[in-house]
Amino acid sequence: MFTGQYPLARNRRMRSDAWSRSLIQETQLLPQNLIQPLFIVEGQNQRIDIPSLPTVQRYSVDVAVDVAKEAEALGIPCVAIFACVEASDKSEDAQEAWNPNSLACRAIHAIKQACPNLGIMVDVALDLYTTHGHDGLVVNNSVHNDKTIEALIKQGLNYAHAGADALGPSDMMDGRIRGLREALEDDHFYDTKIFSYTAKYASALYGPYREAVGSSGTLAGASKLTYQQDPANLQEALREAQQDIQEGADMLMVKPGTFYLDVIQLLKQTYQMPLLAYQVSGEFAMIQAGSSLGYIDGKRVMLEALLSLKRAGCNGILTYGAIDVAKDF
Ligand code: PBG
Repeated sequence: MFTGQYPLARNRRMRSDAWSRSLIQETQLLPQNLIQPLFIVEGQNQRIDIPSLPTVQRYSVDVAVDVAKEAEALGIPCVAIFACVEASDKSEDAQEAWNPNSLACRAIHAIKQACPNLGIMVDVALDLYTTHGHDGLVVNNSVHNDKTIEALIKQGLNYAHAGADALGPSDMMDGRIRGLREALEDDHFYDTKIFSYTAKYASALYGPYREAVGSSGTLAGASKLTYQQDPANLQEALREAQQDIQEGADMLMVKPGTFYLDVIQLLKQTYQMPLLAYQVSGEFAMIQAGSSLGYIDGKRVMLEALLSLKRAGCNGILTYGAIDVAKDF
């Protein structure tokens, strides 16, 4: 890169007026870049606070439909469904995950009926359905890769039949994209998208989410390091991405977001694939906490965090604040 010499060149000249600042702005954050995750609970007319995730609530299906309509009206293209599965529906083999009448399926179906043009993404992993809270099936104290894929295929097809537009495998098993893709093709779901959690790290930032869906108690401190990536690793994300692209993923995802901007940048520059970032619960909760203590201006920090994800190279962002942010545009 070459730049002129002061005082002939003054970088502040273009910053001196609002119009010239706007002319050279390199990155824009728009409602169309955002995906709103929705936590779903049983019942009617339910809006339940989540203590560790201020401003975020769990909704019953009827309320979630209204919130989805609100998101769509604000220009948000997609919502992501997370079912808070009742303890009595959890099991060792996660069979509720392929129940066509499950809470997740009822939510997908109801939102699709009300908002046929809104994208519906849904997490594909077993953590919401297993008593132990792992994303896969446990055999001899270890999460079994290939048996888990068989279960994920049943789960993914179940959601596709319910009306899901995009499956979001967040389990980090090897070969799960191919398994899901081949099963979708076989069932004629040619346009069902796969938004793969490609580089998902074994992060300490998922705590509030696990509380929100009620999987933290059961996981009892067990780590997901045998399947999620070590936060120390960057190169490994390239191998994960290559595998997901070859197996038929439509978008890749990096998760968490702001602590992993280098991963976002590298994946975008290397593969030029559509890319998502997930601003996870811990990132979101830290901003909310700092804001409510009066240490930071939460609204501005939120916009800055999301903008940094776009600047690093992602096209879309899952954030619990999608609707609130879109309201301010
Ligand atoms: C489950 C899943 C997790 C999140 C999304 N899907 C948690 C985990 O892997 O333990 C975390 C989202 C968040 O923290 O906001 N596979």
